[in-house]
Amino acid sequence: MSPLLEVAGLRKSFPATRNLFGRVTERTVVSDEVSFTVGRGETLGIVGESGAGKSTVGRQVLRLIEPDSGTITFDGDDVRKLKGKDLLSFRRRAQMIFQDPFSSLDPHMTIRNAVGEPLTIHYGIKGAERDRHVVEMLERVGMRADQLDKYPREFSGGQLQRIAIARALTLDPDFIVCDEPVAALDVSIQAQVLNLLLDLQAERGLSYIFISHDLSLVRFLAHRVVVMYRGQVVETGTAEELFENPQHPYTKTLVAAVPDPRARRCSAAVPALEA
Ligand SMILES: Nc1ncnc2c1ncn2[C@@H]1O[C@H](COP(=O)(O)OP(=O)(O)OP(=O)(O)O)[C@@H](O)[C@H]1O
Ligand SMILES: [Mg+2]
Repeated sequence: MSPLLEVAGLRKSFPATRNLFGRVTERTVVSDEVSFTVGRGETLGIVGESGAGKSTVGRQVLRLIEPDSGTITFDGDDVRKLKGKDLLSFRRRAQMIFQDPFSSLDPHMTIRNAVGEPLTIHYGIKGAERDRHVVEMLERVGMRADQLDKYPREFSGGQLQRIAIARALTLDPDFIVCDEPVAALDVSIQAQVLNLLLDLQAERGLSYIFISHDLSLVRFLAHRVVVMYRGQVVETGTAEELFENPQHPYTKTLVAAVPDPRARRCSAAVPALEA
């Protein structure tokens, strides 16, 4: 079967300098011929240092920003050409979870509305029927139904990330770009959220792009990993392969930052993750 997502030759640049008249004189290339695939039910990790271009790739894949060139194929469809009904369908099937749940949720919207809104926008579902679905989603991510009328400020970071996951799940997607979804959370909470993502994948056959600068985290979650460095994919392989036999100097640096795999198993995040 073909992969769910195929990205080929993705290129994106932003204006770097302008002359006196506002004309762009130089551009910074932030995605430079980026290519990878994501299989059905698979997690592809994207790792790389800050500014490597990881988020920019995730946003292009979801058509939140427009690439300069390259192709994005989702379940056989050319994502860059989708319009109308087909684009809406893609918007239902492909979701995103961001690093900071405080800024990804509207502070003036109750949890009932935050999680239910996509159902109204896409299907016109409102009232009791919508509430039933919202409660089901919230319970699935470990939140209680009596919290429906609270606002984001009344929750902790970990709870908010669960709510953001519930919102992303509302439309029953096939694919979620998780952009550093636990980087802003306490280590103890990180494991719970990562386990939730793993459970949801097992239940629903979800495919993920999991963006992180932490290779040790990605090793536990991702089936395959893409290493980005200055806008380019410098290495692709299973996390195991990259750990055991890194090829690119940057991957070697990443691996060296996690000195001993046995020691890493005893780190705070990992036992809870495996529990
Ligand atoms: N809208 C934009 N305009 C101009 N430059 C941008 C824009 N968005 C991103 N960039 C630049 O693109 C480069 C890659 O940014 P990106 O956010 O994709 O990196 P990242 O790998 O996600 O980093 P981090 O780990 O810090 O999140 C950076 O140099 C950034 O400054
Ligand atoms: Mg980023």
